[in-house]
Amino acid sequence: MRIAMIGTGYVGLVSGACFSEFGTDVVCVDKDAGKIDRLKRGEIPIYEPGLDQLVAKNVKAGRLSFTTDLAEGVAGCDAVFIAVGTPSRRGDGHADLSYVFAAAEEVATAVDGPTVLVTKSTVPVGTGRKVKEIVDRVRGGGDIEVASNPEFLREGSAIEDFMRPDRVVIGADTDEARETLRALYRPLYLNETPILFTALETAELIKYAANAFLAMKITFINEVADLCEKVGADVQQVARGIGLDGRIGGKFLHAGPGYGGSCFPKDTLALVRTAQEAAAPIRIVETVVEVNEARKRRMAEKVVAHCGGSVEGLTIGVLGLTFKPNTDDMRDAPSLAIVPALQQGGATLRAYDPEGMAEARRLLDGVTWCQDTYEAIEGADCLVIITEWNAFRNLDLERVRGLMKRPRIVDLRNIYKPEDMAEQGFDYLSVGRPAAPAGA
Ligand code: UDX
Repeated sequence: MRIAMIGTGYVGLVSGACFSEFGTDVVCVDKDAGKIDRLKRGEIPIYEPGLDQLVAKNVKAGRLSFTTDLAEGVAGCDAVFIAVGTPSRRGDGHADLSYVFAAAEEVATAVDGPTVLVTKSTVPVGTGRKVKEIVDRVRGGGDIEVASNPEFLREGSAIEDFMRPDRVVIGADTDEARETLRALYRPLYLNETPILFTALETAELIKYAANAFLAMKITFINEVADLCEKVGADVQQVARGIGLDGRIGGKFLHAGPGYGGSCFPKDTLALVRTAQEAAAPIRIVETVVEVNEARKRRMAEKVVAHCGGSVEGLTIGVLGLTFKPNTDDMRDAPSLAIVPALQQGGATLRAYDPEGMAEARRLLDGVTWCQDTYEAIEGADCLVIITEWNAFRNLDLERVRGLMKRPRIVDLRNIYKPEDMAEQGFDYLSVGRPAAPAGA
C-alpha cells in the first residue's frame, strides 16, 4: 500500500514513520522546505525517543520519503492523511481549521485517482463532513472517500502508543474507506487491538471526550490532593485506593502542578466551545479548564508560602521546564506560569531542563540558564521540581544540601518520599502528602 501524510509535525511524522515500519510506503509532505531538507538529511525536528532510528531505518529501506511537492506525494496513494496543526484560535478557543481545509482542497485538486482522505489532526465534530463537501466540490463527484482516524499518542511514548494502542478509532461512512483503513492497520490485528468503526462525527467526538475525560481525572485528583493537604491524608494512597477499583482505573491519577501540553489544554477548550454552540454545554469540562488554569498559577503561591511568605531577594533553583518528561515541548507547561510568578515576587531564578532549554529560553525572560542539575541548585534558597525527568529522581541529596543556601525543596511531582527528605535534613513540601512527622 502507499499513503501520503500531509504535515510533518509531531503527529504526522510519528504516524508516517510508524506506518512505514508496518511495511506501507509512506510519503511525508510538508510546505516547509527547510524542514523537509532536514528530514531528508536524517535530522528530526522534534525530540521523541526512538523516532530518529525509526525514520533512518525506513528511509534506508525505501519505504519512507519526504517531499514539499504535494501532487507528487499524493499520486497513486490508497489513502492520504491530513496531520496539519489545529491551534486554538485566538480569542474564542475554537480549533483553527484553516490548515485542515486548505490541505483538503489541495489534496482534492492534486490527487490522480480514487483515494481515502483521512483526518488525523484533532478536529471538532462536523469537520469530516465539511472536508467531504470541499473534496466533492473540487472534484465534482464522489471519487474521494473521507474518514476520521484520531490519534491517541502521548509525547515521549508516541511510538509505543502507535505500535501497541489500546484501540484504533476509524470514522467512515463507506465500505471502501473502512476496507482501506482496515488494511493499513492490519499489523495491529495480530496484537488483537480493538478497532472501532464508527460514523465520522462519533470518531471525532471520541477523541475530544477521551482527552477531556483524562484531563478531568487529573484535575479531580489534583483537587483531592489539595483536600489531602488540609486534612492530613496522602493523595498517592488515595489514588491507589480508588484506582484499584476497575471502574476507576489507576492511570492518570498522579497529582501535580496541573496538566499542560499540546493536547489537553487545547482540546478541553475546543470541546467546551463546541458543546456550548450545540446548546449542550459540558459544565464539568468548563470547570476542569478553569481549575487547571488557576492551579498552575497557584503552584507559585505554594512555593512562596514554603519560603515563609515571600521570595523577595531569594534564589530559586528550578528543575524541569517542559510540560512532562521525555519531550522538548513547552506548550502550556506549568513552568510558564510558575517561573514568571516567582520572578514577579522578586526571586532570582536558575533553571535546567534536559531537553527543553532552547524552547524555554525563547519563552521565558530573565532566568539564569544552567548547564546541568547541580548548577541550577547552586546557592538556592529553595529548589522547585516542576517536571519529573528520570535524571531528577535520584539526586545526590548530600551534594544538593551542600550546594543550597537553605535545604528547602518543593517537589510538584511527588518524586521523593517525605520521610527520606526529612531524614536528609530537607524542609520538603510535595503535593497532597503530609510532611514527614518530626524526627522521621
Ligand atoms: C495526551 C494524551 O494522553 C494522548 O492520548 C493525546 O492524543 C494527546 O494528549 P500528551 O499531551 O503527550 O498526551 O501527554 P500526557 O502523558 O497525556 O500528559 C498530559 C499532561 O497531564 C502533562 O502535563 C502531564 O504532566 C499531566 N499528567 C498526566 C498529570 O499531571 N497527572 C497524570 O496522572 C497524568
